[in-house]
Amino acid sequence: MDIRHLKAKNIKGFLGDDEAEQLYHLAKQASQFGPCLEIGSYCGKSTAYLGLGCKENGGILFSVDHHHGSEEQQPGQEYFDSELLDKDSGLIDTFNIFRETVRDLLLEDTVVAIVAKSEVTARLWSTPLSLVFIDGGHTFKAAFTDYTNWVSHLLPDGYLLIHDIFLDPSKGGQAPYFIYQLALSSGLFEGLSIINTLGILKRSLHKQRKDEELNKWFKQQINFSH
Ligand SMILES: C[S@@+](CC[C@H](N)C(=O)[O-])C[C@H]1O[C@@H](n2cnc3c(N)ncnc32)[C@H](O)[C@@H]1O
Repeated sequence: MDIRHLKAKNIKGFLGDDEAEQLYHLAKQASQFGPCLEIGSYCGKSTAYLGLGCKENGGILFSVDHHHGSEEQQPGQEYFDSELLDKDSGLIDTFNIFRETVRDLLLEDTVVAIVAKSEVTARLWSTPLSLVFIDGGHTFKAAFTDYTNWVSHLLPDGYLLIHDIFLDPSKGGQAPYFIYQLALSSGLFEGLSIINTLGILKRSLHKQRKDEELNKWFKQQINFSH
């Protein structure tokens, strides 16, 4: 399986082709330095692209999802898909399709599925990560929790990727854009680009150091002036 074959597959999901291809390239680059992690696997579209990038380096992708769908995927909501409703439990269940995707693409030795809430997974997490892709719950609370729980695990120069960034509020919810801006204003990240709705940031120790030097310099100026 290579990227050309993968692009010919029709996997249920919400990524644009340009976004999917970026995920592949970034995971291929990042996974040389450590495992990658995604929040929001759904039926495995982003998993497929990130996973292929990791596989080509012999890397690992942790894929976190409780597999019961986000708010907007529930019955009666905008992104409800009746094919994903489990008739017995009455719950959305994406895990079977996700598993099929991973198996079909021969990614079982690359993708570690974590079937759990991301906030529970984060509780005892201690493995440094080379890439974190946030595409889980899209409420402000969910996006903010994912941001605060996971960014501290990024390695220096690691990638933070945020899906569904809409600069124009009439085009979509603002929670992902909010955490994107939070990351930028923290001084810990450099914004590299936004491809379609995929925000790409890099954990930048260099920038943090520059800010620390600047703060030190300001403090010195204040001391001199007294
Ligand atoms: C927009 S979909 C992800 C789409 C996927 N990345 C793709 O490429 O098609 C969001 C997913 O996040 C999951 N999710 C929402 N809140 C979550 C939480 N707190 N913990 C784990 N998964 C969550 C949902 O179950 C859903 O499958």
